[in-house]
Amino acid sequence: MLHSALINVMVKAARNAGRGLKRDLGEIEHLQVSLKGPANFVSLADKRAEEVLYKDLAKARPGYGFIGEEGGNREGADKSHIWIVDPLDGTTNFLHGIPQFAISIGLQREGVIIAGVIYNPANDELYIAERGKGAFLNDQRLRVAGRRQLNECVIACGLPHIGRGDHELALREMAALQSKVAGFRRFGAASLDMAFVAAGRLDGYWERNLQPWDMAAGQIMVREAGGTVSCVDGASDPLKTGHVICGNEYIHGELVKIIKGLGK
Ligand code: IPD
Ligand code: CA
Ligand code: CA
Ligand code: CA
Repeated sequence: MLHSALINVMVKAARNAGRGLKRDLGEIEHLQVSLKGPANFVSLADKRAEEVLYKDLAKARPGYGFIGEEGGNREGADKSHIWIVDPLDGTTNFLHGIPQFAISIGLQREGVIIAGVIYNPANDELYIAERGKGAFLNDQRLRVAGRRQLNECVIACGLPHIGRGDHELALREMAALQSKVAGFRRFGAASLDMAFVAAGRLDGYWERNLQPWDMAAGQIMVREAGGTVSCVDGASDPLKTGHVICGNEYIHGELVKIIKGLGK
């Protein structure tokens, strides 16, 4: 499968940073793990991966802006393009040796995400999406699942960790849903939750209080796989509100009906 030069740049950077993460996995005692806030871990692995990504992306596209979770916000001369990067999505999983984590790279042009790459180096799953060109997992074209009945669906959510978000609300949301779905999951890496929706592994996913780097690439992945992504209100831009909900258009609609009303 031939991808554009832009996607090749993103894939190369992701694979390069992924090699570092794979090396660091299981070496936790050497990773200087610290807390940014309650239960909000960061390690040398996160920081090194961000440096690799910044270097590779800046070299290939000098002038593009860069927003990275670990503080690497760098303005570029080209004001219309911005990389939105999570160097290690799923740090808690990573630090526990759970192989559900990823590098997530989104590219925004004039405020619109035009490309996304999500890479899990632990199992070498590489997700790619480019605006108008579809979404792929290791060169297989992706399509969201087609189920229309919630009681046949596997749905994932994200829960706020200590010190973040509204825990009571998260419990109310899960209580409202768990009796209506075939299966309920919480994997712990937002970018992969969205990639799983794009791949039809999950029928839907929602989470509140995310950051743009958690979902920039995931958003285009789901859309290019034919799915619907919005804020939990069903309309606004999740990159602005931080609250995301996605699935095929029917399941997205069903989830919005249930989740939207609870957040007041
Ligand atoms: C986290 C993961 C997790 C989600 C958190 C995010 P990080 O990202 O995506 O699934 O529930 O809200 O902060 O900190 O591991 O990059
Ligand atoms: Ca983090
Ligand atoms: Ca993240
Ligand atoms: Ca991260």
